[in-house]
Amino acid sequence: MCGIIGYIGYRNATPILLEGLYRLEYRGYDSAGIAILSDSRIKVVKTAGKIKDLEKLVKEEDMIGSSGIGHTRWATHGSPTDANAHPHLDKTGRFAIVHNGIIENYKELKSELQTEGVHFTSETDTEVIVQLISKYYSGNLEEAVARTLKRLDGSYAIAVLSTEEPRKLVAARLGSPLVLGVGEGEMFLASDVPAILPYTRKVVYVEDREIVVIEESSWWVFDINGNYKTKQIYFVDWDSSMVSRGGYKHYMLKEINEQGSVVRNTLKGRLKENNIDLSELEIEKELIHNIDKIFIVACGTSYHAGLVGKHLFERWAKIPTEVDIASEFRYRDPMISPKSLTIAISQSGETADTLAGLREAKAKGSFSIALANVQGSTITREAHRTLYLKAGPEIGVASTKAFTAQLSALYLLALWFADVRNTISETQKEAIIRELWQLPYHIEACLAFAPQVKELAQKYYHYSNFLYLARGINYPIAMEGALKLKEISYIHAEAYAAGEMKHGPIALIDELMPVLVLVPRDRLYAKVLSNIQEAKARKAKLIAVATEGDDAIKSFATDILYVPEVPEEFYPIVNVIPLQLFAYYVADILGREIDQPRNLAKSVTVE
Ligand code: AGP
Repeated sequence: MCGIIGYIGYRNATPILLEGLYRLEYRGYDSAGIAILSDSRIKVVKTAGKIKDLEKLVKEEDMIGSSGIGHTRWATHGSPTDANAHPHLDKTGRFAIVHNGIIENYKELKSELQTEGVHFTSETDTEVIVQLISKYYSGNLEEAVARTLKRLDGSYAIAVLSTEEPRKLVAARLGSPLVLGVGEGEMFLASDVPAILPYTRKVVYVEDREIVVIEESSWWVFDINGNYKTKQIYFVDWDSSMVSRGGYKHYMLKEINEQGSVVRNTLKGRLKENNIDLSELEIEKELIHNIDKIFIVACGTSYHAGLVGKHLFERWAKIPTEVDIASEFRYRDPMISPKSLTIAISQSGETADTLAGLREAKAKGSFSIALANVQGSTITREAHRTLYLKAGPEIGVASTKAFTAQLSALYLLALWFADVRNTISETQKEAIIRELWQLPYHIEACLAFAPQVKELAQKYYHYSNFLYLARGINYPIAMEGALKLKEISYIHAEAYAAGEMKHGPIALIDELMPVLVLVPRDRLYAKVLSNIQEAKARKAKLIAVATEGDDAIKSFATDILYVPEVPEEFYPIVNVIPLQLFAYYVADILGREIDQPRNLAKSVTVE
């Protein structure tokens, strides 16, 4: 949830660090800073606020140097102030550090250092790290870093520079992402690939408890005990347009509109003729036969995808499935057995709660599959197998294309399990495959209704509270739509199972509480219609998301958004599109920072 960047090479580091920070801004943006090694001293410019505020300050300084580090912050310890912004220096000014993560034992380390006369200039946990490195330095930077790391509890991705060894940067990670970019006569460090993509496509994914040393034309990796490690260099084939906004006003709108092609990408190579091919998972069919229960763990939007997955695994594959919010799962002592399968869903692959839930499940003997988007992310290395979402980099903090990719991946998994376990007929399988291939077209049909959704946003943006209602497999979509509205427009929205309204929440309904209802023509249609009538009787303004061709709804709803008719299990992936667009347009009318909503970060790597 912070972004770090490092550079050493033949160019001036400053513009590279700033550009990299802009590309990492989605990871956190309440303060930022850079440190440059120049004329054998470390120059630091840092400030509360956004990177554009930092850039203004940097221009007023003479920040010229061929190595440096940078940081964009999402505050955890210490409020977002200039003093708490990274980079942090040690007491002698010879060492500078940037850090993404949380040091859980920083208080005891800080008091130990204070008794030794160290004066701290910030409230952060990070400053403890650089003061320890300074204390332990005796001529070799990576050794001082390794000795320091052994004293830390918690998570970190750090980059360190020093006047003592000016042609070197040292980095390390535990629990927070870190990649090394291999250039020609220059090397890069970053929290995520987009930050280094303009300069090199050759990346090395640093793993937990590894330490990296980089110089202009060389790099090496070793573990915390000094043992060298050989690492694979990956070639990243993302094109840079995937990272730019492509002419859209916000990344989020670009990513909403990419969803047709994203779902095609997720399905490609995995649906062949009338068969499903997930051989990439290298899972024996016997293991699938022996699964007696599925546990799904995730957070936020990914959790909502998991709730849809439950319906699919139980309906198609007849496997009992539990879905947990990851931060709850890990403390409830789940009844996991070696015949359990745990599916951890995470776009970033770095969400601390989801990682902890996965570790808990593995410790109890569960086999595990990660549904993840970011290649080389922690979750992909800790789960037994990974089914990649193939959604491309998702920059907007509010997840959209990753969500529809997660749903697509869950359709694939549930269908494959059902096929292996013979719980569906060949005819059913072929019908589902046909429908899966239609999904991108249905999504694009929904996207074509964007102007109508925009009009609706104009009509409703001034309300302060919304209710989102649905039943069955669409209830998780009501939850997702409510989350989207909350997190980017800051308007309160609550999702409820439509059948539950009469047990209390209906007391909320009046003309000031618009009610958005998902009412597809499925087997629960009549039930939802009666819930709509209950709300209408209490003067609610009703926005219905209904199936194309449904005229009956017109006598109940104030406004209607239509989606294509699809088989019942596929309504979640079409219903979510108008809800994403509605949240986007409301937030845009309100002038919100849509790609970087307040208080949020793209990847929550703290518990
Ligand atoms: C999604 O719009 C939110 N920004 C957030 O709930 C997110 O889904 C959650 O933090 C999980 O992230 P992950 O998928 O990267 O694990």
